[in-house]
Amino acid sequence: MLTKTEQINSEVKLFGNVQFIYELVLAKMELESFDIEYSVNESLRSFDIAKLPNQENFLSRTAYFENLNNIPSLYKKITSRNITRSINQYLTHWFYPYKGKFHPQMIRALFNYLQIQSGETILDPFIGSGTTALEAQLLGINCIGIDVSEVCYLISKVKTNSTNSHSEIKNTFNYLEELLDGKHTGENEQLQSVSNFVQNIKNENCKNFYWVAELITHSDRARRRKKNPIQLFYNNSKKMLESVSDYVELINKFNLNLGETSFYIQDARELKLQSNSVDGIITSPPYSIALDYVENDKHSFSVLGKKTDEIRENFIGVRGKGNSKIEMYNSDMVKAYEEMDRVLKPGRKCVIVIGNATLNKQEIKTVEMTIEIFTKMGYSLEKNLDKIIFGLYNIMQKENILIFAK
Ligand SMILES: C[S@@+](CC[C@H](N)C(=O)[O-])C[C@H]1O[C@@H](n2cnc3c(N)ncnc32)[C@H](O)[C@@H]1O
Repeated sequence: MLTKTEQINSEVKLFGNVQFIYELVLAKMELESFDIEYSVNESLRSFDIAKLPNQENFLSRTAYFENLNNIPSLYKKITSRNITRSINQYLTHWFYPYKGKFHPQMIRALFNYLQIQSGETILDPFIGSGTTALEAQLLGINCIGIDVSEVCYLISKVKTNSTNSHSEIKNTFNYLEELLDGKHTGENEQLQSVSNFVQNIKNENCKNFYWVAELITHSDRARRRKKNPIQLFYNNSKKMLESVSDYVELINKFNLNLGETSFYIQDARELKLQSNSVDGIITSPPYSIALDYVENDKHSFSVLGKKTDEIRENFIGVRGKGNSKIEMYNSDMVKAYEEMDRVLKPGRKCVIVIGNATLNKQEIKTVEMTIEIFTKMGYSLEKNLDKIIFGLYNIMQKENILIFAK
């Protein structure tokens, strides 16, 4: 922190959406990771800066600061590419209504705190809807995303790979529009059903893109039965294409050097990865018994031809009943944490975002258990931040951001 005499005329300003204490703490952690000397202003919305070793690096990587002396950060420009009303659903983050997503800004800040450099590799063994992967990609960091769910595998791929097939996706959209306008009368069977249209697409990235549009259509239809599915599919594809076009424009305008992404349908308890091979881990495992990921995505699993009762056994947190459910969860998580330990390089860090769920008025101490397992494996707990959560009041009020050093 600065004394008054050390202050110079530099100021960094927080994004307007920053409103929680944990975000302010992460913002301070970010400044420290850039070796910046600072003091917080009275409003708590901006910081005075004395020492700023690398202004360019700070402006291109920061997550919580929208500008430095009124020069906008790259993240300010990235997050403005948003077709949704939700501030953190910019670019392709919004694809698919997945419950329990990470807050992307938090992930970007954690990359800074963990000092993960462009070209290094991060692992998220519970990738879910792909938030870690998209944020890594934007910083030039390579990401390995693992999930046991085929739905998550597909969404993560589409969010991060569609820019590579932008023109095929655009051509397919134009064709869909022409079919709907009756311009290809001999090919009307293409529109017999949404599935039929998607199945006939040859290019793999392009097909995956429209598959996700189909999954979104199914989840919309579950809520609004009356609308014509082809029309809903068309509307969703149009919005998704707009976001991919935005992403392509952003890459070209700012000459972004994207990180590579690779996704695998695997079990986090048995990673098919080499020991000591990743430079960092950021993940949120299933929250004990708080959310049923199989039930949540059952419409999508059925579109992908998967039987939910068959795949259930592979999902952590939904196996077993009553107390045995919790015991199974605990032993599954020990295995998953041991695997993370095996693949993480010595000297690097692992971030686990997890909360204690309440079952029959009893709190299940998942956070404490996680700390105990990592401590036994020889890690030190470097940070433990409380993060408030909304929408799950009766099951969980807060989660913890646990940062362990190997
Ligand atoms: C809390 S969510 C992750 C959400 C993610 N952070 C995001 O931003 O979307 C946990 C994920 O763990 C996955 N999962 C459950 N059991 C698993 C297993 N055995 N191996 C790998 N992934 C599993 C679920 O499918 C779910 O996507």
